[in-house]
Amino acid sequence: MICQRIVCCGKKLARRASRVRARGMTDELKSLYEFLRFPSISTDSAHAADVRACALWLQGKLTQMGLSVELHETARHPIVVARNQHRQDRKTVLIYGHYDVQPVDPVSLWDSPPFEPEIREGKIWCRGATDNKGQMLAHVLGVEKTLREEGDLPVNLIFLFEGEEEIGSPNLAPFLREHAAELRCDVIAVSDTGMVGPGVPTMGYGLRGIACAEVTLRGPKGDLHSGVYGGAVANPATALARLVASLHDAEGRVAIDGFYDDVAPLQAWEREMWQKIPGVSDADFLAVTGSPATFGEVGYSAAERVWARPTAEVNGMGGGYQGEGSKTVLPAQAFAKFSFRLVPNQDPQDILAKVKAHLEKHCPPGVSIEIELGHDGKPYHADPHSDFGKAAQRALKKAFGREPVLIREGGSIPIIQAFREILGADTLLLGLALPDCQIHAPNENFPVANFEAGIVLNQHLLRELAL
Ligand code: BES
Ligand code: ZN
Repeated sequence: MICQRIVCCGKKLARRASRVRARGMTDELKSLYEFLRFPSISTDSAHAADVRACALWLQGKLTQMGLSVELHETARHPIVVARNQHRQDRKTVLIYGHYDVQPVDPVSLWDSPPFEPEIREGKIWCRGATDNKGQMLAHVLGVEKTLREEGDLPVNLIFLFEGEEEIGSPNLAPFLREHAAELRCDVIAVSDTGMVGPGVPTMGYGLRGIACAEVTLRGPKGDLHSGVYGGAVANPATALARLVASLHDAEGRVAIDGFYDDVAPLQAWEREMWQKIPGVSDADFLAVTGSPATFGEVGYSAAERVWARPTAEVNGMGGGYQGEGSKTVLPAQAFAKFSFRLVPNQDPQDILAKVKAHLEKHCPPGVSIEIELGHDGKPYHADPHSDFGKAAQRALKKAFGREPVLIREGGSIPIIQAFREILGADTLLLGLALPDCQIHAPNENFPVANFEAGIVLNQHLLRELAL
């Protein structure tokens, strides 16, 4: 009890100290704090008003910078578009970001309240600090700084910010189709990915695609006493365990028929290049994850499996008694949620059809199966050595003072491939997240140094892209 009070008191003192320091904060950090305080959780309808308030704040910020701003309503959360005065003789750069964030639970695991930003150990701790508000605002503030210092930008700029990325951007692709002419651009820049380590400038040239599905197995019409009925009828939780186990073979390969049919093989030059990148060895993956061993498809390093190979993951499983102690019950049903990460040239719809066929074929006897297919998005892959790719690398080098590394990303931003298909433009992925920024998890954080570097990076980027 006493211990708890001391810990609590210590935390309060630390918080007060950080508030005191906050008074001496830069204007940039003050803006970020304001932006972060909105609990803009897109998946939770209880937070719809907060998401909207966040969009309105953004509209105000961009307007005050002298840009012309539009707020477009959608079936759920608004899209914010802002532009400078466009001229015929300049290139057009579209910068995309998202102002929505992931849910915060489990709240008890946060060391400070998830929507009260504070700085400790040189990092800003808050939900959305990295994914994506900190990275996104660095772009906005870089533009603000250039406008203040030079009175103009070297390019025609379009800011496109959405509030639905974390729920699969359901309204953005239709918006792109409807407004394709106004959104026409030469290239797109996005800071919503990672750096391989502190101070190592990192350009992404690929993202994995995604396909989600959920399965429910049903047995008896209600929960049963496991002594009275166990052995007489199938247990849906046991059946689920067998079904989930059927997704992989013993060597970590996905065992769904045809799953690898369209996979573009990892290129020799990429493998060679990635082997030289610091901070992405199997030992580094162990250190950052805290797992006792790496595991996955045989013949690939951890980084290769994440960046260039498709995977099947269970994101959640449930059924039966979850409380303290034991309860002798035979559950009436059990469920699992899956996501599949995809690489070029896999097609999410084709994969979902194969997943469905696999689940139906391998469903154990004695239970019924219901499969619900979820959202999906295509993988993305671009040439890192294009003219724009080279320009982005020059900007990264200027901002961080060293040669950038080139990687593909394991995460997904499905709208990036839609940009290419609808707007005809490629995307430069200029990530600022570190491996331990804990995006989507409790204690998300963003180093102040990365935020500041991001502002400078944006300034160099627009200059280099203009050439
Ligand atoms: N910023 C992430 C994507 C990301 C993170 C890419 C790190 C590369 C490195 C984005 O906000 C995200 O979380 N995307 C979702 C996909 C979406 C359809 C739910 C993801 O990857 O799970
Ligand atoms: Zn995210």
